Amino acid sequence: LPVTIFDEARDGAIHVAHELADLIRRKQAQGEKAVLGLATGSSPIGVYQELIRLHREEGLSFRNVVTFNLDEYYPMKPDELQSYVYFMHEQLFDHVDIPPENIHIPDGTLPIEQVKMYCQQYEQQIEQAGGLDLQLLGIGRTGHIGFNEPGSGLTSATRLVKLDALTITDAAKDFIKEEFVPLRALTMGVGTIMKARKIILMAWGEGKAKILQQTVEGHVSDEVPASFLQQHPQVQVIVDQWAAQELT
Ligand code: F6R
Repeated sequence: LPVTIFDEARDGAIHVAHELADLIRRKQAQGEKAVLGLATGSSPIGVYQELIRLHREEGLSFRNVVTFNLDEYYPMKPDELQSYVYFMHEQLFDHVDIPPENIHIPDGTLPIEQVKMYCQQYEQQIEQAGGLDLQLLGIGRTGHIGFNEPGSGLTSATRLVKLDALTITDAAKDFIKEEFVPLRALTMGVGTIMKARKIILMAWGEGKAKILQQTVEGHVSDEVPASFLQQHPQVQVIVDQWAAQELT
């Protein structure tokens, strides 16, 4: 996997934001939509900040942008502070001119018996939009991308999953107490992510160094779902010097 190392996360995030902006502008010039797969969590926050700046100060428009988020906790109401709906509006959507109907985030409020059908529809909506031009990813310490925890297969699709114990521990900071973290989530599958034409994986900080080393240099296995990215032809791994410290 090609890795680009920046001294600071800030610089890496700005680089990623400019890649997204270039894609959006290129598609705009062709009269087409840019279909973006988006992530939540701490990793993409700097990217979204730079995109907001580009919108405010350099006229970058999101009128032609269609987004599909990777995941959402289940169950989860959209107005809860920990929801990924809340996160995306606060961190990006409320500050740019994206048409609300272009935004897609898995619905954490559905009754369980509707979830399977809903996940199939999420896949279809991505296809009908023309497929993902670019998927943005963070990585969890379990090796998850989206919430594809160890054991997730290469061809897995959007579905309801159980969160790993380590993921729940890492999420506890957002929920005050570990026991308040939902045990499950809706997530795009590894297969959904692998269909994106281009993928950017970001990792910042030494907490990600070990799993990044396994992802980039380890063998491809569902024990580290992010390692499947080695089989994708168009992946960029963007990291800071701290996340890169275990790479040989
Ligand atoms: C979030 C997501 C997760 C995170 C990962 C890293 O939508 O899909 O895979 O990207 O858990 O989280 P942070 O960036 O908070 O370290």
